Order: sequence, then structure tokens, then C-alpha cells
Amino acid sequence: MFDLTHKTVVVAGGGRGIGRAASLRCASYGATVAVLDIDQQAAQGTVDDILAGNGKASALRCDITSRANVREVIDHIAKRCDRIDVLFNSVGLTRLGTIDEISDEDFDFVLDVNLKGAFVISSEIVKRMKATGGGRIIHCASYCGVKEEYANAAYCAAKAGLIMLTRVMALEMGEHNISAVAISPGNIETELLDQAFRRRAEMENVDVSEIYERAAKRVPLRRLGTVDDIANLVAFLSSDASFYINGENIMMTGGYVMN
Ligand SMILES: NC(=O)c1ccc[n+]([C@@H]2O[C@H](COP(=O)([O-])OP(=O)(O)OC[C@H]3O[C@@H](n4cnc5c(N)ncnc54)[C@H](O)[C@@H]3O)[C@@H](O)[C@H]2O)c1
Repeated sequence: MFDLTHKTVVVAGGGRGIGRAASLRCASYGATVAVLDIDQQAAQGTVDDILAGNGKASALRCDITSRANVREVIDHIAKRCDRIDVLFNSVGLTRLGTIDEISDEDFDFVLDVNLKGAFVISSEIVKRMKATGGGRIIHCASYCGVKEEYANAAYCAAKAGLIMLTRVMALEMGEHNISAVAISPGNIETELLDQAFRRRAEMENVDVSEIYERAAKRVPLRRLGTVDDIANLVAFLSSDASFYINGENIMMTGGYVMN
């Protein structure tokens, strides 16, 4: 249990999966959570569950690849809260295909959402944090940012870029009392993973259960991760207890990939 009372936590991509679990966990530890998602209904679903548990939260539709939209949403949050203490950026997606198959459009799209979007939202939020005495940035990268994965070049490249973006942000913003970290989950059971595994099963012409079994077997702990595993890490990284961890990429893969 970490004390997040009096903290405002912005979760981008909080409508589903890891972002949703992290929003619920942070709210249960006392944070006021702004749940942002391109899918307004999904964001509202997370908020309804937080409110049902007597937590504090609001839902906002936000496409993190649009500077104008991000600015408008962050302005709105800043007017209602004195400060933004934490950004957890959980937005991410992939399009599978080998280098000779993937289209320019898919490559650009994956880079835009995973890397450019992360840059856009965190750059807007650090401007606020600088003016209010500091804060914490947490980007959700992936083990794919440090380990090559077949038919996943755009995503691997984007996540590697995100890990480096986080390091530079930590270097530049430290003097403003802003610390930045990346987290790199292994395979975590979510909709995004299921879509990727189904596509992989199609490509290999095998049943999707085989892809799941193979993935679990590769992990020393012999299971895929859960969104709760990652939510625990996000709550810790959102708390004052972890603030001095700065610029790191924290792996959470059950030992599948070790730094
Ligand atoms: N699930 C895994 O196995 C796994 C492994 C490693 C890393 N990750 C990373 O963890 C993060 C969360 O993944 P997840 O599995 O929970 O995915 P998910 O698809 O379940 O959730 C992602 C959320 O982001 C939202 N989103 C997509 N584009 C957006 C945009 N432009 N602006 C705002 N919101 C947008 C989606 O609507 C969705 O609610 C991602 O960054 C992903 O790359 C996931």
C-alpha cells in the first residue's frame, strides 16, 4: 500500500488494460485520477468503477497524438486541480509484419502513437510540473524496446525510442524536481496482447492457444503477467517512496528479459 492521497495522477490510455488497472489501483490508494483515452466510453467505464469504490476520478477523451487536443485536456485538468503530480502514459499499440511486409502507413502509425504521442503528452505535462514545483513521469515502454521481436519492427523501434526519450527527459528535467522513468512489461494478458497473439497465430497457421503456451513457457516464472502486477509497480512509482529512481527502464517480465 502506497500513500497517494493529495496526488493528482493523469493516466493516458486508462480506458483499458494496464492503464485501467493502474487507474483503479492509484485511486484505491487515495489519488485523484484523470483517466484519458481516445475511447471516451472506455475511459468513462474506468471512472465509473473508481467512483463505485468511493474513489475520485474523471474521464476525458484525449488523442495523445494531437498536440491541440492534449493541450486542451491538460488545461482543463490544470484548472480543476492545483497541480499534476504524476503522468502514467500507458498508450500503445502495434501492427505486426516483417520489414518487407509492413506498410509505410502502419510503420508511421505505430511510431506516432507509441513515440510521438508520448513526447506530446509528456512535454505538455512537464511544462505544468515545472510551474508547480515538480512531478513524476512514467512511460509504459515494453521488453520489445530492448529485445528484438520477429515481425514487430515498428513497435520495437518505437519502444526503444521511448526508453531513450525518458532518459533524456530525466536528464533535462531533474533540476525542476521532475523525475522520469520507463517501465517495460513482458507479455501481460490484455486485449492488446490477445490481438497480437491472434495475428501471430494466423501468420504461423497454428491455434492461438499454442502461442499463449509458448509465451508462458519462455518466462522463468512460467506464467504471463497480469495487469495487477503492473498496477502495483505504477502505484509504487507514483509514490514519494520511489522518486529518486530516475531515468531507469524498469523491466517487469517475470524474468523473460533481464536488464
Ligand atoms: N499487454 C502487453 O503484453 C504489453 C507488453 C509490453 C508493453 N505493453 C505496453 O503497455 C501499454 C498498455 O498496453 P495494454 O496491453 O494495456 O493495451 P490496451 O490496448 O489494452 O490499452 C491501451 C489503451 O490506449 C488507448 N489508446 C490507443 N491509442 C490512443 C491514443 N492515440 N490516445 C489515447 N489513448 C489511446 C486505447 O483506447 C486503450 O484503451 C502499451 O504502451 C503497450 O505497448 C503491453
